Amino acid sequence: MSAPRETQAGTNATAFVLEAKQIEKSFGATHVLRGANLRIRRGEIHALLGGNGAGKSTLIRIISGSHRLDAGSISIDGRLDPNPNAIAVVFQELALLPHLSVAENIYLPHRKCAFARLGEAACYAEARAALALVDEELAERTLDWPVAQLDLHERQFVEIARALSSGARVLLLDEPTANLTFSETERLFGILRRLAQQGISTLLVSHRMGEIRALADVCTVLRDGRSVLDRVALSDISDEAIVEAMGQKSSAVSPPAPRGAPAASARMQIVLRSPGVSLSVASGEVLGLAGAPAGPSGVIETLIGASRPAAWQITIDGIDVRFSSPAEAIRAGVGYVSGDRAEKGILATLPILDNIVAAARVADRRILASSREATAAQTALDTLSIKASSIDALPQTVSGGTQQKLLLARWLAPAPKILVLEEPTRGVDIGTKREIYAMIRDAAAAGCVVVWWSTEFTELIAVCDRVVAFDLSGQASGVLDRDELDEVSLSRATGMAA
Ligand SMILES: Nc1ncnc2c1ncn2[C@@H]1O[C@H](COP(=O)(O)OP(=O)(O)OP(=O)(O)O)[C@@H](O)[C@H]1O
Ligand SMILES: [Mg+2]
Repeated sequence: MSAPRETQAGTNATAFVLEAKQIEKSFGATHVLRGANLRIRRGEIHALLGGNGAGKSTLIRIISGSHRLDAGSISIDGRLDPNPNAIAVVFQELALLPHLSVAENIYLPHRKCAFARLGEAACYAEARAALALVDEELAERTLDWPVAQLDLHERQFVEIARALSSGARVLLLDEPTANLTFSETERLFGILRRLAQQGISTLLVSHRMGEIRALADVCTVLRDGRSVLDRVALSDISDEAIVEAMGQKSSAVSPPAPRGAPAASARMQIVLRSPGVSLSVASGEVLGLAGAPAGPSGVIETLIGASRPAAWQITIDGIDVRFSSPAEAIRAGVGYVSGDRAEKGILATLPILDNIVAAARVADRRILASSREATAAQTALDTLSIKASSIDALPQTVSGGTQQKLLLARWLAPAPKILVLEEPTRGVDIGTKREIYAMIRDAAAAGCVVVWWSTEFTELIAVCDRVVAFDLSGQASGVLDRDELDEVSLSRATGMAA
């Protein structure tokens, strides 16, 4: 392993392993970074915070060399022409070659093997050592497996191992936990803490205040491309102060006080039955789904017409739910926000306008654009304070959290009877999360049944009327009422330790 050896060299030369100074970056007319600063010490876990569109991912892409900076400087251990391998971005997915083995993925991109002509056995041994440093059990079990067989979080561990084996001393993680369960997140954090003790620094981008506080020591806050807080110890600053620095209302820290009386009009009743659980949900209720993904996804697939009911028998107003397609579900009044915005949610080649009106078109059986759509789309942008240059822009020109808001905007106009949500706050900043919680409660108050799958227990507790918990095998293990909802009861019912 080269990492510890190299780490020794620069420590005395400068206080910071990574220093980005006065970084400027524009995309066309959009001035994204306006003098951003970031300074990271050796062995530190540093949180990079900011609202959606503040410039966090752009800064990471500049530091890792995938975007060129317009002005400013980046130095590592005080050197302005750093070894590019010293910094590594750990991508959420897709940066590995799925058909090659775990070991090959770790050592093949590794220049040392190519140039120093290490034998394959030696490369393999290095890969094993690198992975064992991250997770011994994974190294024992999976070194020869094709990467395609690994879970998402295990792929992240392989990426970390690969970064370490090529000499990375700073890991850049852009929302690494967005697609992880609670226990997978814990496992990742354990690794990062251990690496920190060995002098490896981590830059973490996250919108989850709880996990930031659990992991990071120091934070930098970006707002409109400027570092408005620069290396502030997290122990010295409150959530409210951080949120205020981000430029969002400090009331955004706590979710809205929920639960008006359900609307009397448009009453509707959904009954869900599976072996072990049976419950009836009425208009005005927010029903949470928590636990291992197999459980919630079974309910959701049935509700949205993606698959025939297997484990679940669901009725809406006494009629069996047997939609033969998602279009049929939409016309029956079922709205759905997919948890996978890249694959199943955002229409990447169509402008924001079409992304917003897509569901309304299906509901109305329309193919042609209508003149009213532009107004409707603009209203949706304003209602949800969506930061986009225009309704004609492509979705890829807005930040990740903003894309998430576009998916919700799709359902403002068709006003569904049942709104099915998969992790609608994934990647969404704290202020926007609060807006989404309010939207969820508003939809319920307007007579909708909201069925909401979230991996964040805190938001389920804050917003839901009831939660169906699933155990680790995906079986429904119980229904928790409002007054019994807390972290402990949810952890117990889902088998996901808190
Ligand atoms: N290739 C691009 N072309 C045009 N604009 C871009 C491009 N990439 C980013 N932007 C703009 O730069 C701004 C910052 O985006 P960035 O993705 O860095 O934000 P972020 O802080 O990572 O947000 P989030 O929390 O939502 O991930 C956004 O307003 C975005 O629209
Ligand atoms: Mg981002």
